[in-house]
Amino acid sequence: MGIMEKFESFLVSHLPVSESFHPYYETSLRQMLTSGGKRFRPALLLGVVGAYNPLMFESAYHIALSIELLHTYSLIHDDLPSMDNADLRRGVVTLHKTYDEMSAILAGDALNTYAFEVLSNAPLSAPVVVKLVRELSHNGGLNGMVLGQAIDCHFENQRLELDQVKMLHIHKTGMLIAASLKMGAIIVGRDDIAGMLYDFGIDLGLLFQIQDDILDVTQDSASAGKTTNNDEAKNSFVTLLGFDEAMREANILAEKLLDQMESFDENLYRELSPTLTKYINRHKEQK
Ligand code: IPE
Ligand code: IPE
Ligand code: MG
Ligand code: MG
Ligand code: MG
Repeated sequence: MGIMEKFESFLVSHLPVSESFHPYYETSLRQMLTSGGKRFRPALLLGVVGAYNPLMFESAYHIALSIELLHTYSLIHDDLPSMDNADLRRGVVTLHKTYDEMSAILAGDALNTYAFEVLSNAPLSAPVVVKLVRELSHNGGLNGMVLGQAIDCHFENQRLELDQVKMLHIHKTGMLIAASLKMGAIIVGRDDIAGMLYDFGIDLGLLFQIQDDILDVTQDSASAGKTTNNDEAKNSFVTLLGFDEAMREANILAEKLLDQMESFDENLYRELSPTLTKYINRHKEQK
């Protein structure tokens, strides 16, 4: 079994299980976690761990899961009627449509806090766990992803400047992706490369969101597995710059990242390059 398959079974065995007398609370918590998702952030974290200490994979699954839990909560809330109002996510009908808005809000709340419960129970030393809590809460929280989402939603139908949109994308998407790489380095005790990986991750995350903006106009909902053509009111790269210019920005970032990868050490390059090249290039076939 490959590492990502092992991570998937780890996830399944750590799904929220306590069965209450609520008719669908537990089902709603599990639904978005088990409906797929690219697991991009776990793959990044596990790539770094694989490069420097594969003996730590078992501990690292806990941390990769905590990131995926927080990310999944962010998607559930992102789709709410008061945010992006989307009907489809990970190939299935969104929770607020399947059940009701209240259930979707609470499922998000539960996964957000469960992320930190899982993290706190990881079999790692207490100082390492504290560092990881700091990274996940900082990058996923009030001055990270949540700030990005707040700006994204507040400025609908109001045009931002390009550097403001970059800031928005870096916050809503880049910081959690950067944290995934950095947290991998923290797990294996390579704090000396954590900063380099974080900076690389910020550019990678910015590119990932520009590509997501491109895919919003090139993919239909069925192939994306989520509601697309949904960014008209948003400050997306495509709405701001137009398709060709957004592709140009993506290509510039992609080249920069591919270039930086060349300075990775041999182990890091070997473990990360399959995931990185796949995602860095993913916009290139779109039209
Ligand atoms: C979607 O993230 C939201 C963005 C930050 C662009 P992903 O594209 O990683 O979504 P999943 O996890 O594969 O569903
Ligand atoms: C959302 O960005 C980023 C998150 C923090 C969830 P989008 O709103 O563009 O993500 P999608 O396109 O709905 O997946
Ligand atoms: Mg959104
Ligand atoms: Mg959205
Ligand atoms: Mg999008």
